[in-house]
Amino acid sequence: MPTPPRKCCINPSILSADFVNLEAELAQISNADAVHVDVMDNHFVPNLTIGLPVVERLQKVSPVPLDAHLMISDADRWAPKFADLGLDSVTFHVEASHAPIKLARELRARGAKAGMALRPATPVEPYLDMLAELDMLLIMTVEPGFGGQAFLDVTLPKIRRARAAVDGSGVKVAIQVDGGITEETITRAAEAGANIFVAGSAVYGRPSPAEAVESLRENARLAFSRNAAERDSTVPQPV
Ligand code: DX5
Ligand code: ZN
Repeated sequence: MPTPPRKCCINPSILSADFVNLEAELAQISNADAVHVDVMDNHFVPNLTIGLPVVERLQKVSPVPLDAHLMISDADRWAPKFADLGLDSVTFHVEASHAPIKLARELRARGAKAGMALRPATPVEPYLDMLAELDMLLIMTVEPGFGGQAFLDVTLPKIRRARAAVDGSGVKVAIQVDGGITEETITRAAEAGANIFVAGSAVYGRPSPAEAVESLRENARLAFSRNAAERDSTVPQPV
């Protein structure tokens, strides 16, 4: 049987949008799967963005679901409050949580998908036993904190190992990548096994953000089909 197609999502990051016109900026990417909202506290990362009140308003006006990425310390205390806003998914950094399993369960209990993020140098192996507690694993492909950085190819083996573990365990966990995703790097990330792609500058830095979303999607899908064709050609066929 041919390999079923993997679901591909393009989530533009509003970190590269015009913060004075966020409602209009959201309207420009209504063809995206979700909008990625970067929350930074100037403590976990050396940058500051928006907090609960602004995210609450975005949730009310967005044409697509909200995917919150919390780059904040004390995630155990703050992440549940974001889930209470009714967001589609809430992602905390494992480096900022004392009790990631408890926190993931709390997020789900509040109706949000539970996402867990790893900085580029954080290994995935210690967390493989808790995959069933998660809806999404975010593998950072730049050091968190700023948009417009170059994709770190050194993270590709980790994406491959995470994909192998997810497929091998049979649990349904999406693998998101964030940082330096462009029309070029999305191919490598997709081939390695990511299926949700966050892009800030490669969407909002383009003349048409909606067209940029479509061309990222197209490149990811092409990479998926190549992967599937390769897998199918290595599976022994019944005679
Ligand atoms: C970085 C943020 C990213 C950022 C990506 O810490 O988590 O979501 O907006 O921006 P680009 O796509 O420009 O690297
Ligand atoms: Zn992010």
